[in-house]
Amino acid sequence: MSSPLPVYSLMPIELVRGSDCTVWDAEGTAYLDLYGGHAVISIGHAHQQWAEAIGKQAATLGYYSNSVHLQSQNDAATALGKISGREDCDVFFVNSGAEANENAFKLASFITGKPRVVAFGGAFHGRTSLAVAATDNPKIVSPVNRTTNITHVQLNDLSAVEHELKQNDVAAVIIEGIQGVGGVRSATDDFLRSLDALCASYGALLILDEIQSGSGRTGKYFAHDHAGIKPSLITVAKGIGNGFPVAAVLVSKTLPVSVGMLGTTFGGNPMACVAVTEVARAIERGNLMQNAHDRGQQLITALEHVPGIAEVRGRGLMIGVELNGPCSAVRKTLWQEHHILTGTASNPNVLRILPPLTITAEQIDRFVQALKDALVKETLVKDAS
Ligand SMILES: Cc1ncc(COP(=O)(O)O)c(C=O)c1O
Repeated sequence: MSSPLPVYSLMPIELVRGSDCTVWDAEGTAYLDLYGGHAVISIGHAHQQWAEAIGKQAATLGYYSNSVHLQSQNDAATALGKISGREDCDVFFVNSGAEANENAFKLASFITGKPRVVAFGGAFHGRTSLAVAATDNPKIVSPVNRTTNITHVQLNDLSAVEHELKQNDVAAVIIEGIQGVGGVRSATDDFLRSLDALCASYGALLILDEIQSGSGRTGKYFAHDHAGIKPSLITVAKGIGNGFPVAAVLVSKTLPVSVGMLGTTFGGNPMACVAVTEVARAIERGNLMQNAHDRGQQLITALEHVPGIAEVRGRGLMIGVELNGPCSAVRKTLWQEHHILTGTASNPNVLRILPPLTITAEQIDRFVQALKDALVKETLVKDAS
């Protein structure tokens, strides 16, 4: 009998159902989902209009390729451009975050005629060929992925970037809006502004990887919106489909793109596109970016000065809670005893909080109390008060 390839470290929970910020296991236990299946669930599990739109599209025209006009694709591009404030971009739809980054690299290289990419220490950009090479984690870069075409420099080190750009062979610099897997670490807004200007002055393209930090999660549509920059290539995935596999590259209309440069069989299929349109509508209708901002502030404020917590980082609903020690026991107590799911990061001390953008003030309060209790239980602190 075949099984799914055992490449994941699995929590011993089988989930069978979801609604908004709650998921249920096979025994009927409800869990508060502060992980969102890794920042994917933006508008809530089993969102009604989203599910209906996908079902209706499946029953009407479930698939056709990019060899014809598809109204669903035009609508999704329009919706993404509008909600992100980037109607000066066109949209190339693909299927996953890594694929979006691969296409952004390829486009940058075609356009500039240069072969090299600069990425940052701690970065995660996916697991396909160049995306994994741009990822700063030697454990997941296999020999076939090792390439001299990617150079890593330290986050916030502008002179190191300039040193690479001066060699005049850099097509693109890629940076996450906020580093997610790397432990919720941000470049400063000043660094992003200077990086944008530096790339422009050396003729390299800046790629903003907003795969985890986009879709309104930080309180603005993109994390880099807080710095007020307008990069010419932006990659998105995860939250734009709320669980339907879809990703995209937003490409500035000023870039010279021509027929045949990029292509995909499944990217931009009608079901994926109606999912994108419904997610954008639900974010606007529910004022979810404002909720992400408000609930994030609530959480950051509530966790300030809590014994056992070394630092709380992030923006909106992309938050890293760094404990004074490894977080695995606390995380286990949270899901086993308090029925709350949280995420991890490459730093073993960091709990990653990435809930649906619909989370309520009461649910945040419930998590804060549970975390304080779990910290006491795991004796990271003697007294929670
Ligand atoms: C910032 C970032 N980029 C790229 C990816 C890769 O996305 P995917 O797993 O859809 O290929 C991820 C996934 O976690 C991510 O967080």
